[in-house]
Amino acid sequence: MSKVTVIDHPLVQHKLSLLRDKNTGAKSFRELVNELALLMGYEVTKNLPLKETVIETPMQETTVKVLENEKIAVVPILRAGLGMADGIMNLIPNAKLGHIGMYRNPDTLMPTSYYCKLPPDISERETIIVDPMLATGNSAIEAVKVVKEAGSQSIRLVCLIAAPEGIYAMQIAYPDVDIYVASIDTKLNEHGYIVPGLGDAGDRLFGTK
Ligand code: URA
Repeated sequence: MSKVTVIDHPLVQHKLSLLRDKNTGAKSFRELVNELALLMGYEVTKNLPLKETVIETPMQETTVKVLENEKIAVVPILRAGLGMADGIMNLIPNAKLGHIGMYRNPDTLMPTSYYCKLPPDISERETIIVDPMLATGNSAIEAVKVVKEAGSQSIRLVCLIAAPEGIYAMQIAYPDVDIYVASIDTKLNEHGYIVPGLGDAGDRLFGTK
């Protein structure tokens, strides 16, 4: 079964609370999502394997540790996932960025995919899918399917807020995908929104409502 990590670092929790506030405007909202993605990225990459290598400091030769696989792909689910991409990329600047575009049908809550561009060597990369809200799980499950079909073998999913329903659905569909969140909220409402949540992440990021 996939591991679910709730990142309870005080800075993450503080920033998440500011983000949830309905009086937080688009500019602050974007900045907070960016900062949260960076802080969470630190935790998400904590168990990346290291290998030893020999280098020379100005003083002497020494054995140091470096990432065993420096190849990482960050894949935001458009559109709200875009808000998290820069934050994670600031932490891992050599990662390659893929994009998966999806919107969900408001009646069926099922995702429709309209865009996909992934690094061609994604099969060799540790893949980090980012999307602020894990609601029904349908979009994230579809994104994992797409990334797996492209060859990715190691996938982590990073969301700011998850509904228990979304976590359960993802664990059933892909037990090998580890999930990182800042909060597991109470439930989904009848429109598929997370409560208490933070509303529509895409609209709040881009000021479209
Ligand atoms: N997407 C959002 O932006 N918010 C939710 O609460 C659920 C899905």
